[in-house]
Amino acid sequence: ATPVRVALLGCGSVGSQVVRLLREQSADLEARVGAPVELVGVAVRRLDARREVEVPEGLLTTDAAGLVASGVDVVVEVIGGIEPARSLILSALEHGASVVTANKALLAEDGATLFAAADKAGRDLYFEASVAGAIPILRPLRESLAGDRVRRVLGIVNGTTNFILDKMDTSGAGFTEALEEAQALGYAEADPTADVEGFDAAAKAAILASLAFHTRVVATDVHREGISEVSAADVASARQMGSVVKLLAICDLVEGPDGPAVSARVHPAMIPRSHPLASVREAYNAVFVESDAAGQLMFYGPGAGGSPTASAVLGDLVTVARNRLQDVRGVGESTYADLGVLPMGAT
Ligand code: HSE
Repeated sequence: ATPVRVALLGCGSVGSQVVRLLREQSADLEARVGAPVELVGVAVRRLDARREVEVPEGLLTTDAAGLVASGVDVVVEVIGGIEPARSLILSALEHGASVVTANKALLAEDGATLFAAADKAGRDLYFEASVAGAIPILRPLRESLAGDRVRRVLGIVNGTTNFILDKMDTSGAGFTEALEEAQALGYAEADPTADVEGFDAAAKAAILASLAFHTRVVATDVHREGISEVSAADVASARQMGSVVKLLAICDLVEGPDGPAVSARVHPAMIPRSHPLASVREAYNAVFVESDAAGQLMFYGPGAGGSPTASAVLGDLVTVARNRLQDVRGVGESTYADLGVLPMGAT
């Protein structure tokens, strides 16, 4: 069969693991897709940067725009951030490629533009890796639960802050000390603002709420409060009450003034130790879902890191590659309902 030609944009910790898995799993991928999956180019900022895997010299390029326009079948975007990722994804779709992305910031800010472009091009845009790393949560919300009515999604969707709060809970450490440990272990970024101030979790909450309620929620719709003000004393008093402090993303289907609406927020919350989310330790993530017919579900696993995130990317890659070979599209955005998002305090 004709190979499925794949271009990779970005070769950092996730991109490197995508390269490794494509190489190591090539026979399995071919069997699952029904054609060989061939990596034809890797766009990077610097050719001479140190990488976790060896990329054959001929594949590396600094011309991402040229690679995307070169007639590949699938573009995998793991650069992150808004630009140039957005322009590259739009160009990929215009050139007829299917797209797999892990870019939560872009989807939460301007998903509508990307989905419209995918619809216009008649191509797949998959993004399982954008929320909670390896945990399969987006397709279950969008597809498996599409016949049910999801009422609530509660998530621990930022590994760095969960590590910090867990450390404060188990060792009595203060916020600054716990953050330093998270940084030393490589969980938190050198500038940890996106994690500790809840921006990363708010982007993920917007994506979760959009899929759970089949509507559109953007990051700025999400009320956001981080964990930098949580003190050792707050954590100790929660402990005395049989509770634990977690940074939660909380998405609810609510009754608004004009019918059903959505409320989405991210803030530190005290939860009883008996709640399943209380057992989520270290940098793990979990998403707890309540729906009318299914009842309560919990999805748990590693929410960050190169290899776990690459696992989700590869899963999407297999699906979009299969869809191309069968000349079908996966679940698009055509079914969304336009529910209002209520400001904090309205419910
Ligand atoms: N900084 C994020 C976290 C990485 O700590 O969860 C995954 O999005």
